[in-house]
Amino acid sequence: MEGVDGLALVSRWLHITAAMFAVGGAVLMRTSLFPASQEVLDEPTRKELHATVTRRWKIVVHVAVTVLLLTGAFNFYWLALKAKISPNPYHFIFGAKLILALFVISVTEILIGRSPGTAPMRKNATVWLTRLIIAAALVVFVSGLLHAIRTA
Ligand code: HEM
Ligand code: HEM
Repeated sequence: MEGVDGLALVSRWLHITAAMFAVGGAVLMRTSLFPASQEVLDEPTRKELHATVTRRWKIVVHVAVTVLLLTGAFNFYWLALKAKISPNPYHFIFGAKLILALFVISVTEILIGRSPGTAPMRKNATVWLTRLIIAAALVVFVSGLLHAIRTA
């Protein structure tokens, strides 16, 4: 076991688990919950279900996003800065990942949020969920690329 970086392992575990939770929920909503509730429920019941699901789902999202941000910042510090990885091309690709990840996190938070300014996005939730899911899939690819570059 000598040479195993326990802290990095725990951080990676928490990071990936949090991402699974947050993005998995978006996939369920987009592919199954929204279409199913539109099929079988009348408008007032659907609205009520949506509000109740959101109220519960919010807690999971807030915890997952907090963990993602904290462990992500730690990963960058620990694996790239402290380990003195060559900034080229790691930093540049990390910047791309960060922008994509912040897009995913912002859309996730907006879709469960209540600010009047972002109401049009919630009205169009199916489209935004699709964008969120595509961006999240890209984030996982770019993260794997970072890992590959760092360990090459
Ligand atoms: C176009 C994208 C980027 C390029 C070309 C780039 C390039 C560099 C270079 C050349 C250094 C100096 C490394 C050294 O002193 O050996 C550096 C340091 C640093 N970069 Fe980046 N970087 C980019 C994006 C980012 C992003 C997106 C972040 C964080 C969000 C970041 C965080 C840092 C930090 C914290 C340091 C200081 C490291 C230290 O002093 O140990 N960089 N970067
Ligand atoms: C939608 C949000 C996010 C998702 C889905 C995500 C996903 C992932 C995954 C799957 C890995 C493991 C890659 C691998 O080892 O193959 C990873 C690693 C990493 N993530 Fe994230 N992440 C997200 C947000 C963030 C944020 C906000 C930050 C920075 C603040 C961050 C920084 C990192 C770093 C530095 C690594 C290590 C990459 C390496 O191995 O060199 N992530 N992420």
